[in-house]
Amino acid sequence: MATCIITGIGSGIGKATAILLAQRGLFSHYALIGRNDDDMRKTQNEMQQYLPEGATKLYHIDLVNPEGIPAIVEKINSDFGEITALLNIAGYTDPKSLLTTTLESFELTYKVNVFAPFMFMRECVKYMRQNGGKILNVASTAGMTPRPGWLSYASSKAALISMSETLTAELSEYGIMVYCVSPGRCATKLRKRLAPDEDPTTIMQPEDVAEVICNLVNPDEQCLDGQNIVIRKQMKR
Ligand SMILES: NC(=O)c1ccc[n+]([C@@H]2O[C@H](COP(=O)([O-])OP(=O)(O)OC[C@H]3O[C@@H](n4cnc5c(N)ncnc54)[C@H](OP(=O)(O)O)[C@@H]3O)[C@@H](O)[C@H]2O)c1
Repeated sequence: MATCIITGIGSGIGKATAILLAQRGLFSHYALIGRNDDDMRKTQNEMQQYLPEGATKLYHIDLVNPEGIPAIVEKINSDFGEITALLNIAGYTDPKSLLTTTLESFELTYKVNVFAPFMFMRECVKYMRQNGGKILNVASTAGMTPRPGWLSYASSKAALISMSETLTAELSEYGIMVYCVSPGRCATKLRKRLAPDEDPTTIMQPEDVAEVICNLVNPDEQCLDGQNIVIRKQMKR
């Protein structure tokens, strides 16, 4: 038994990752976290083509309420047991400059991008520390270099990179590896909010990022945690 928890499975990178993991058969059970039931069912149905019946389960939560996360993780543990991987993929952006950013928007961004991953990590580690496991956080290249006009998003991703680095050291005594990946431009709903005029066919696709994530969470990968791994694809012109 090995249970993988994935957030943000309704679309984009989270959806592509969940489906690729199911195809590769890396885990016996998948706890799929999201808030839009229609989108979540579509991902689940695609995954189930490759998995035994009952290998996936949906858990609904709006991550602007991270205080609901402990009950969800407890439920996942009683449904499936042995939580061995946590993939914090969900993310939110409201790209604004300093003078147009409201406290509400700033708070919302941090709740989804920082507080929710923090709560999932804290709650999952309570179970993972017995047998070890892997945590993977999806940050962004926006968290590494200045992004004028994206204040809350860029700074929240910088916080996620820092948390990942700190926890790599803190959790190694439990045999828990912590990865952080920072994708560049990738054709998803979130990217559309950041760059509405961009042609999505000219940038990296969610499947490209999913491929890297699946390689990292594969139990054979034992050497790359603790780094902020940038994911970029050279596009043919
Ligand atoms: N696309 C890029 O260029 C890029 C680059 C670097 C990093 N990233 C990161 O990659 C991750 C995945 O994003 P994506 O690009 O694949 O975009 P996406 O398709 O918009 O996926 C974001 C996911 O997060 C979920 N989410 C957002 N707010 C939520 C909330 N309050 N409660 C529960 N779920 C919520 C969304 O659910 P709903 O559909 O219900 O909103 C969606 O499934 C994010 O962390 C993002 O910051 C993306």
